Amino acid sequence: PFHIEDFKRELIEGIKQTVGSKQVVCGVSGGVDSTVLAVLLHEAGVNVRAIYVDHGLMRKDETAEVQNNFHRMGVEIETIDASERFLGALAGVADPEAKRKIIGELFIDTFWDAVGDAEMLAQGTLYPDVIESASNAKSKASKIKTHHNRVDRILELQAQGKVLEPLAELFKDEVRALGASLGIAHDILWRHPFPGPGLAVRCPGDITKEKLDIIRECDAIFIGKLKEHGWYEKVWQAYAGLIPVKTVGVKGDERSYEWSTNLRAVVSDDAMTADWVELPSQILRETSNRILNEVRGINRVLYDISTKPPASIEWE
Ligand code: XMP
Repeated sequence: PFHIEDFKRELIEGIKQTVGSKQVVCGVSGGVDSTVLAVLLHEAGVNVRAIYVDHGLMRKDETAEVQNNFHRMGVEIETIDASERFLGALAGVADPEAKRKIIGELFIDTFWDAVGDAEMLAQGTLYPDVIESASNAKSKASKIKTHHNRVDRILELQAQGKVLEPLAELFKDEVRALGASLGIAHDILWRHPFPGPGLAVRCPGDITKEKLDIIRECDAIFIGKLKEHGWYEKVWQAYAGLIPVKTVGVKGDERSYEWSTNLRAVVSDDAMTADWVELPSQILRETSNRILNEVRGINRVLYDISTKPPASIEWE
């Protein structure tokens, strides 16, 4: 049987040996893997720089939450506010692949600009990522990971033995167990997955701050309702996105002509396939009522009942 406490002790010992007094840089996103990684390095007494790039495509209040979470755990993170740079580069770009490319490249540039000369780099690569990279799978996910984790600069550092991947033997549930034994809060360890390109893949067509703000409001209401009704951890992933098509409605005494929001909640094992969730109608009703009452710019709420395949989980 797998003893997490023993494993943690060995891991920390190994990290101390490898790192010594060098400074280690790591990127954090607020997600499970990078959080466990940063806290683990901190626990090992390593001189760690944790860098968080805010690309302006995060959810409502997410950046402040991530900062608070790390602060509570005694890890100070460096926040790079690059939102204007990202939104500027994305202005007027509607093609999904073009959007992804801009975000991916700008992310790497922004991150490495902040890193400067790194003595060592730590990555939250998990065992499934190792297998995926090794078996040159052609899925979208693997291409993206190749892009993010295995760029030239990293290969160079790797060749010099300067890349640390302490989670590379672990599956997700083991990372969570390790995180729990490091004292990381349950809420953080059981967050839904969130895509690297953030809300961009939930905002079809070109991206504007107005659209992102609408998504943030709708999403916060939906996620809040799932938590309130005890459904957040029953679903694998959930979000509200934008359908930027205007339809006619009535608000107050006036005709409205506004966009729609799509709610999506899925269960999945590995994100390769997914099924939509039959949420209690009460949750959907309360979510819809609040969105229609509170979110300016939305006059219609739709629930996405598409399986993957053929649909994907995200909209882009
Ligand atoms: P799709 O939309 O392809 O998503 O069904 C499958 C899972 O992957 C997430 N996703 C991403 N994660 N970078 C990521 O780190 C990405 O570019 C990306 N695109 C999709 C998505 O949220 C879902 O969990």
